[in-house]
Amino acid sequence: MATVLAIETSCDETGVAIVKNRKVLSNVVASQIPIHQQYGGVVPEVASRHHLEMVNPVLDQALETAGLDWSAIDGVAATCAPGLVGALITGITTAKTLALVHDKPFLGIHHLEGHIYASYLTETSLQPPFLCLLVSGGHTSLIHVKDCGVYQILGHTMDDAAGEAFDKVSRLLNLGYPGGPIIDQLATQGNPKAFALPEGKISLPNGGYHPYHSSFSGLKTAVLRLVQTLEKEKSTSLPVADIAASFQDTVAKILTKRAIACALDFGLDTIAIGGGVAANSGLRKHLQEAAKIHDLRVLFPPLKYCTDNAAMIACAASDHLNRGHISPLTLGAHSRMSLEDVMLLYKG
Ligand code: KG4
Ligand code: ZN
Repeated sequence: MATVLAIETSCDETGVAIVKNRKVLSNVVASQIPIHQQYGGVVPEVASRHHLEMVNPVLDQALETAGLDWSAIDGVAATCAPGLVGALITGITTAKTLALVHDKPFLGIHHLEGHIYASYLTETSLQPPFLCLLVSGGHTSLIHVKDCGVYQILGHTMDDAAGEAFDKVSRLLNLGYPGGPIIDQLATQGNPKAFALPEGKISLPNGGYHPYHSSFSGLKTAVLRLVQTLEKEKSTSLPVADIAASFQDTVAKILTKRAIACALDFGLDTIAIGGGVAANSGLRKHLQEAAKIHDLRVLFPPLKYCTDNAAMIACAASDHLNRGHISPLTLGAHSRMSLEDVMLLYKG
């Protein structure tokens, strides 16, 4: 029953949380989104500097909220891959220092494993095997969750991630950053059937289609062409809400089709969603409707656990620590790392 303090600094949120198995004792997030908004995306050097400024105050707040001192903490964890290297180093160095000073084990956690564990925080009785649809700003994957640290990637994007597609379409519509929440909100006022957009099927050499892989760059280009055509044709303003609704509906259909096919083919009765795009209302609607038809269970974590946070990292670390998995203090930051290699982060 390990109580773990974890630090998440892989991108633009500085998070510190304390979790005992699947129970969140504190979860503090300082978002840098307003800082990066002026640049239209995350600037890595700016992110690193702000993590450095925020990590200590966020850490103090997490300990204070949980009402714990260091004697109650069994281990210290930090996201160590994948992510922005400078940003990751801030969290890892802080966690290692705390582990050394307080004589606690240190654990490096794979960020995507954290997103999987977000589902355990709310569905505390959830057990593998299940399917995880991981949709964030950097990833779009269908993962067969077999056990703690044991994952098989069944499907992935061939180009842009789903969240990246939301961010790029938002940028080309001049709506701002991050695009997901803005398009989601705007889509509520638009007609999802206003424009037919391509679903980006992945062709195989034998003439068939890959049922689980996805592609979003063609969809993004189709939105760009649509905007250019509409701008040429009409003198009135762009039907932005209809474009947002049609785009969101297409993304939701792409993800739903693949997740349902994957769950059925692999005999998995539960689909847990993770990553920032799990917040999307269109995806929630499509996936819930389709799951009902096929008698599958879908789990959407609450918003605060969908986007980057340290509670999901601490939950994963707690599970690893319960199994005796500990990382060496020589572990560094990795900008890329396959989820299938996560056990390389632990000794022995
Ligand atoms: O998981 P996350 O917080 O960070 C990464 O690890 O990437 O995901 C951020 C992504 C961004 O691309 C953002 O636009 C997207 O999640 N996002 C959404 C929504 N909220 C956040 N996408 C669609 N609909 C939303 N409501
Ligand atoms: Zn993330």
